[in-house]
Amino acid sequence: SPSPSSSFFSSSPPPSSHFICKKEDIVKAGRVTKLVNGCRDVLVLYHQGQLHAMDMRCYHSGGALQYGDIEEFNGRLCIVCPWHKYKITLAEGEGLYQAVDNPTAKPLRTHWRSKGVKQRIHKVTEVNGDVYVILNDSSETVESDVYQTERYRTVSLKA
Ligand code: FES
Repeated sequence: SPSPSSSFFSSSPPPSSHFICKKEDIVKAGRVTKLVNGCRDVLVLYHQGQLHAMDMRCYHSGGALQYGDIEEFNGRLCIVCPWHKYKITLAEGEGLYQAVDNPTAKPLRTHWRSKGVKQRIHKVTEVNGDVYVILNDSSETVESDVYQTERYRTVSLKA
């Protein structure tokens, strides 16, 4: 095995990272949810060879994103919330919607627009076959923060 000095960064989990699961488990399941650091319910996705992590409950109304489909809209991969079909980009947590160009034109033409970042995205990394999340602790409020309280955690456990 490589010497510890040369391989330190690639063989050790990064600081303040939290173990989620074995890579092989998420490759099989496609998605894993976990309460991270005792304070944040995180959804980790494996899709087309990439790992993604975000707050588990949808920013709109707390929907269970772990049951959403992954689809591409306007060339961007999104999770589609199973509750009201909101589309959230995997990479940035942006809310996408279809805007009508001109309401009086026929046929109606629409194009995709972004509402900006609505879902908190977290960093996810793999080290030696283990998957870790580093919580995004930016102090800027993101709408999905609302559902990261004890109250919603309890609701979801009972559901
Ligand atoms: Fe996700 Fe409404 S709760 S779309």
